[in-house]
Amino acid sequence: MSERYKIAVLPGDGIGPEIMAVGVAVLQAVGPRHGLDFEFVEALAGGAAIDATGEPLPVQTLELCRRSDAVYLGAVGGPQWDTLGADKRPERALLGLRAGLGLFANLRPAIVLPQLIDASTLKREVIEGVDILVVRELIGGIYFGQPKGIFPEIKGVRRGVNTMSYSEVEIERIGRVAFESARKRKGRLCSVDKANVLEVSQLWREKITALAREYPDVELTHMYVDNCAMQLVRWPKQFDTIVTGNLFGDILSDEAAMLTGSIGMLPSASLSRGGTGVFEPVHGSAPDIAGQDKANPLAQVLSGAMLLRYGLGQPEAADAIERAVGTVLDQGWRTGDIAGPNTQVIGCQAMGEKLLTVL
Ligand code: IPM
Ligand code: MG
Repeated sequence: MSERYKIAVLPGDGIGPEIMAVGVAVLQAVGPRHGLDFEFVEALAGGAAIDATGEPLPVQTLELCRRSDAVYLGAVGGPQWDTLGADKRPERALLGLRAGLGLFANLRPAIVLPQLIDASTLKREVIEGVDILVVRELIGGIYFGQPKGIFPEIKGVRRGVNTMSYSEVEIERIGRVAFESARKRKGRLCSVDKANVLEVSQLWREKITALAREYPDVELTHMYVDNCAMQLVRWPKQFDTIVTGNLFGDILSDEAAMLTGSIGMLPSASLSRGGTGVFEPVHGSAPDIAGQDKANPLAQVLSGAMLLRYGLGQPEAADAIERAVGTVLDQGWRTGDIAGPNTQVIGCQAMGEKLLTVL
């Protein structure tokens, strides 16, 4: 008897549909070998949804996601929608999904694969062996805090406002995910904040420190976000698991991604407490190369592995995908973004075909 899962597929914009085609093909190939039967149901999100319905996240899409076992997302956004107001932009689809599904925990692993060391702009000795997990709080902080808005003129001057706020409950729930994750890794957790300036960070630090008593096997340190940005490029191997708020996590996870050579390699998982998760690449929709078969589909494919591991509890099928990515890289196949000496550059679709031959 195979297990049946319903997967909501949201290809989105730009390179989204190209890389999603590869991602879905890989899941389809892996499923039957592990007794998994997938029903893929596609829906609109982002700019594609704006063009078709006027809304970045149509209610039907959110409903489908709620009724699915996992959401597999490509990327959203593009210059043609950049002039729209903040609440009508494609990015709203992401924020709406995150809030609508209660996805407070965003896991962003940044692993330097031995095959790609030369694709990084940093020196080999600095990045060799880097394996960092950024745990980013995803539905609080300055992204969602109130009050927010562009406020009317006072004495002829408007004011733009966002509020960084975290309740103790929000800090504790992301803290727990981070301690649990660190426990399964090398047992080191670095909490990143700006407690030397911000009250919200002082509460963050106090709560995370208190929580550490429940995880005596995890070694907790604290770091200011500006120092963390510096340490990540200076000596990234000092980090195992990082936990931080929404805005700091947005910035630091892009920085951590670049240690690996290309943001085109990085998957992510956004999780709630027991509900449907969203699995998507860390990179964006890359409109400059959309439709040219140049995109690197590996972040999408590896997000499929995270979907299996964290969304459906199928670690063996996830391992199979991650192994296949390693094998194809060992064989020397690369998309342009990760090309290096003695490698062969191929397109997005061909990369998908190579994966299917080694799965
Ligand atoms: C990310 C992205 C999003 C974010 C944008 C597109 C809304 O940068 O997932 O990191 O800021 O969270
Ligand atoms: Mg970002």
